[in-house]
Amino acid sequence: MEKNIKANMRKSIHGEWSSKLIFIFAATGSAVGLGNIWKFPWMTGENGGGAFVLIYIVSVLLIALPIMIAEVFIGRHGKQNPVASLNYLSNESSSFDITEIDNRLNRVTTRKQKYSNSDDYTNWQLVGWMGMLAGVLILSFYSVIAGWTMSYIIKAGSGVFTGIDLESSKQVFNNLVADPYLLLFWHSLFMLLTCYIVSMGVKGGLEKAVKILIPGLFLILIGLGIYVTTLPGFVDGLHYMFVPDMDKITPDVILSAMGMAFFSLSIGMGSLMIYGAYLSDKSSITEVTTIVAFADTFVAILAGVIIFPIVFTYNLDPSSAGPGLIFQTLPIAFGAMTGGQLLSTLFFLLLFFAAITSAISLIEPAISYMIEKYSKSRLESTVIIGLFTWFLGIGTILSFNYGADIKFLNLNFFDLLDTFTSKIMLPLGGLLMAIFTGYIVKVAIVKNELKLKDFIFSFWYKLLRYIAPVAVTLIFINGFI
Ligand code: PHE
Repeated sequence: MEKNIKANMRKSIHGEWSSKLIFIFAATGSAVGLGNIWKFPWMTGENGGGAFVLIYIVSVLLIALPIMIAEVFIGRHGKQNPVASLNYLSNESSSFDITEIDNRLNRVTTRKQKYSNSDDYTNWQLVGWMGMLAGVLILSFYSVIAGWTMSYIIKAGSGVFTGIDLESSKQVFNNLVADPYLLLFWHSLFMLLTCYIVSMGVKGGLEKAVKILIPGLFLILIGLGIYVTTLPGFVDGLHYMFVPDMDKITPDVILSAMGMAFFSLSIGMGSLMIYGAYLSDKSSITEVTTIVAFADTFVAILAGVIIFPIVFTYNLDPSSAGPGLIFQTLPIAFGAMTGGQLLSTLFFLLLFFAAITSAISLIEPAISYMIEKYSKSRLESTVIIGLFTWFLGIGTILSFNYGADIKFLNLNFFDLLDTFTSKIMLPLGGLLMAIFTGYIVKVAIVKNELKLKDFIFSFWYKLLRYIAPVAVTLIFINGFI
């Protein structure tokens, strides 16, 4: 079946989500992950707290959400891997109407004239290429961090955190990242599990998982949120997160916050495009994406609300903990509460699940491309891309120990990958998707696919055409000067 792919077939060859709710779960599964719980608090700490959070929220609303709608639109309309979908849409929009007078019948007829085939090469497919590459690059370090999470499930379960203090907690973390073989073990295990689920097909593998995991994660986070209100550092934590210190806003903070919004919502690299390809034509794109964006932002903010009270209760410096922040702080809180052993095990387990549902979406664009383009089986495609990603992950592993001092532009391998993907590739991908949808695709096609009330459509279309691209460009220019 997978061999005969017609660009204009109106269903993805990989099937369709069973329902709108499943798409919401799957897209939330993609969006909610280590980005919200591990990266957002770390970035907030590194970039001065409230100012970063404020810019993050503004970026989500004005830049990321409008682009997210465009990305899902491209996917659902194209119904193929990101490269082919972009190509299809671009060719479709370059056909034009011919109006002629039919003399015999004496009436005016209009017919579509295509001067290109739907699978002719167009440069827009490079956006899809960049996205697939970004997905693989991100996954290569994402998997290493997910590996930390897995090792923390075991630690939590065996009571390592009971009554732990700050020094020991730091020690536990440092011991883990200092051991490349241990990291390699967890990274390999995580990649194996991700590849296993992906090889089962997105629907079969993923649908079942997200239905339980996403609600579970929400519940436990809310529980933790209630717990931290009892900590002495609660007010300081909230103050740090929600009272912006305007002096802290620099071009780099703005670029980081915008990059964080792209990363956290999984946009700019084709994940949501391929998930959109599996979305039924009956569902409203705007409705589902808005729900996902809000759920994702809620989780990120909640994670901050949980972490910073702990940080201030134990007099940690939020700006210097780096990527180890949650791994050093959360165990102390869990260790101090009754039932903490069970709760912490559950927490890291859910975090691991949140990570794997994101990991799947990071690799799926490349997999779907291999299947559709080279007629490879899903398993074969998964093995090839998976092995490559796994290998690249070794660079990240070493950047926490033996290779920590190997730097380029003052960044180690992990920082380099993270910076390059979040601050450049994702925003650039998003910018191009905005321009593509806003200026290249015929407006009638967009309107027909989104089926929005006129005033909502024109509001979104303005954000997409003017606000988002200009903002991303300005932030880029300022951030890099
Ligand atoms: N959004 C995911 C997270 O927050 C990471 C991700 C980025 C997933 C880009 C897919 C695409 O963990």
